[in-house]
Amino acid sequence: MKKQIICGIDIGSSKIATIVALYDEQADEAPKVIGFSSYPSQGIKKGLIVDIDKATESIEKSVDKAEKMAGYKIEKAFVSVGGPHISSLNSHGLVAITNPNQEIFENDVERVVEAARAISLSSTREIIEVVPCDFTVDGQGGIKNPVGMTGVRLEVDTHIITASQTNLKNIDRCLSDLGIDNQGYIFCGLASAEAVLTETEKELGVVLVDIGGGKIDLCFYNEGSLSYSSSIPIGGRHITNDIAVGLRVSLDSAEKIKIYLSKKLSDYSNKKKAGEINLVELKLPEDLSDVSVKTLVDEIIAPRLEEIFKLIFDEIEKSGLVKNIPSGLVITGGGSLTAGIIEISKKVIGLPVRIGIPGRVSGLIDEISNPVYATTIGLILSGQKKMEKEGSELKSFSQIWHNFSGGFSFSRLKSFLKQFIP
Ligand SMILES: Nc1ncnc2c1ncn2[C@@H]1O[C@H](COP(=O)(O)OP(=O)(O)OP(=O)(O)O)[C@@H](O)[C@H]1O
Ligand SMILES: [Mg+2]
Repeated sequence: MKKQIICGIDIGSSKIATIVALYDEQADEAPKVIGFSSYPSQGIKKGLIVDIDKATESIEKSVDKAEKMAGYKIEKAFVSVGGPHISSLNSHGLVAITNPNQEIFENDVERVVEAARAISLSSTREIIEVVPCDFTVDGQGGIKNPVGMTGVRLEVDTHIITASQTNLKNIDRCLSDLGIDNQGYIFCGLASAEAVLTETEKELGVVLVDIGGGKIDLCFYNEGSLSYSSSIPIGGRHITNDIAVGLRVSLDSAEKIKIYLSKKLSDYSNKKKAGEINLVELKLPEDLSDVSVKTLVDEIIAPRLEEIFKLIFDEIEKSGLVKNIPSGLVITGGGSLTAGIIEISKKVIGLPVRIGIPGRVSGLIDEISNPVYATTIGLILSGQKKMEKEGSELKSFSQIWHNFSGGFSFSRLKSFLKQFIP
């Protein structure tokens, strides 16, 4: 039994969430969350670090709290990254198989993915993810895992996500100031997808929509693979602004009203029965007691949500996948809790919509089983996959080495070395 610790730091525009989980490499169990904390973020706007000192301070506060809860010092962590500086493209890779018997090994798959990675990229951008979508062996496509198959020509279609190097360097700077090693960036949309989407949805075609405080991250899946990802610079904070302007209250009060309203109205249709909500409980500094739910939802929140979903629809059109997403939208992130969101999104997009509540972990799950923490939990799940992949790559290398060293000969040396040559 080999226990591993995985840590994730979700650097959001509204909160920094830190998570520590334990998983057993050999057991088929969900990772167990042993430490968690969420701290309001500062110095981060629309997924971009705009003030390194403030951002570092809020990351430190969040990390400290999670460390105390877990009784573990975080030395390395997977880190979320998102926002409009993210862009994506699809790339193709091709290699020849020269192994004895033309059998395809794990390292051939690595080579072909590496070949797809060779794209011309501006010096200000960095690749953060290369997702293999489909493999083709000797012209036969649609293969998800070619290991063990036989062929002479291996091809792959990949989806590549890139990010602004400046922002990545700024995040690295915050982490290195805190003595934390970055184990890898994970795109927020991809992390959330890991925590909320089902395999069937991915197979049929679905769009993951993570509505955060300052941005919306999107991931499109089709035939089980990621095929498009993007981000829109708008989020829950804009709804809070509209409420503040509409009701003439401070941003703090508007945020409290928004969250209170969504908790009171789990269903948009209830607003007709609700009439007015009493805000006395919130003890706002403004002299505001009863507010018409109709005014709040129909006149203030709905127009902004309509604008948001029109922008999402534009992205769906840009992806060229309009007809390939029968499972519709899975909305997550804190913004998905906004009152009336399901009805408005269905009206604008014309596709099925559900709210994605993250799961697939055990332990301290009461507080975190909430769309607000979809990316946070996704960091653990994506991190686990990355660690397992690295482990199997290491095993496949030692297997090749073992086979090779079992009986030394010139021809064995030649075929061993050939596996590493594209
Ligand atoms: N119950 C709720 N009802 C309505 N809105 C909510 C609720 N809870 C949180 N939100 C909103 O969700 C947003 C924060 O979401 P989230 O925590 O997912 O963002 P983030 O990850 O910090 O930011 P980002 O992903 O944009 O960088 C805020 O605008 C907040 O007002
Ligand atoms: Mg987020």
